[in-house]
Amino acid sequence: MVFDIVTFGSAVVDTFIDTEFNKKSQSFNYKAGSKILVNNMTTDIGGGATNTAVAFARFGFNTGCICKIGDDNNSNDVLEMLKKEKVKFLGKKSKGATGHSIILDSKDHQRTILTFKGPGNSIKLSEIPKIKAKWLYYSSMLNESLKTQEKLIKQLSKKGTKLAFNPSEYLIKNVNLRSMIKLSDILIMNKEEAEILCSKYKKKGSFLDGLISLGAKIAVVTDKNKMIYASDGIKKYSLKPNKIKVIERTGAGDAFAAGFVAGVMANRPIQKCLELGLKEGESVIQYFGAKNKLLKRKLKK
Ligand SMILES: Nc1ncnc2c1ncn2[C@@H]1O[C@H](COP(=O)(O)OP(=O)(O)OP(=O)(O)O)[C@@H](O)[C@H]1O
Ligand SMILES: [Mg+2]
Repeated sequence: MVFDIVTFGSAVVDTFIDTEFNKKSQSFNYKAGSKILVNNMTTDIGGGATNTAVAFARFGFNTGCICKIGDDNNSNDVLEMLKKEKVKFLGKKSKGATGHSIILDSKDHQRTILTFKGPGNSIKLSEIPKIKAKWLYYSSMLNESLKTQEKLIKQLSKKGTKLAFNPSEYLIKNVNLRSMIKLSDILIMNKEEAEILCSKYKKKGSFLDGLISLGAKIAVVTDKNKMIYASDGIKKYSLKPNKIKVIERTGAGDAFAAGFVAGVMANRPIQKCLELGLKEGESVIQYFGAKNKLLKRKLKK
């Protein structure tokens, strides 16, 4: 079987905790040994690999997901969710706890995040099945998993597999991404990330030109509620986000990127792909949770 797309990245559980923020000290000032009452808490499954896999599957694409989870109750929740969303799990279960983020949300929506990475960054090439895929979608991974991402795309690109890549700021700052970017059919990042990447490789002028000259075939740069820009090396495109009320912004970047890539997979013109990314991003941030409001609309004919 050939997958339309296989996502490769993290699968984690997010616990959102509503807290009283100490406005005066600008910090969560909790005394060691104290017991703190919180207003509310909610749990959701997140992580770049599962968020985007669900988005692609809901567009009707035959989707797989490579991620590494533990053997705790949370790992069962991840597997159940993927099954319900018709995403094939192509990852690995290992001993211990699944990755988990505790998100301390203040009254004015400032977030402090305690994050436990779990086994996510230790995926070996030998731990994943042999796959055939038209596209790979990479969100940010480190260590062994990053090496596996590199090896996998080097293998599969020879057979025509395309790559969409959404690296994080940490990855851009700390790792040489030149060879991965060269293999990227679509490179998506936010403005700060594009700025760091271009200055690291001494690319002057527009970010889009810089990203294209690093080898990306299509480059897209987002900037929260400001203009989104894209280039295919021939033409430039832009789109202004709408004024909307943001309820909870976790997953905005994943949703936008998945919407854009899905448009390209369905052979839509780039301007339409931007519109689809915007729609997907907006749909997610106007509600709570990174994936429950992802669009359900068949793109695949
Ligand atoms: N405040 C906002 N108002 C309207 N749209 C937004 C807002 N924030 C994000 N978006 C939408 O989501 C897209 C991606 O957001 P952003 O540029 O913040 O990505 P990011 O920094 O990669 O996000 P993430 O932290 O999730 O990785 C934007 O281009 C826009 O379409
Ligand atoms: Mg991002």
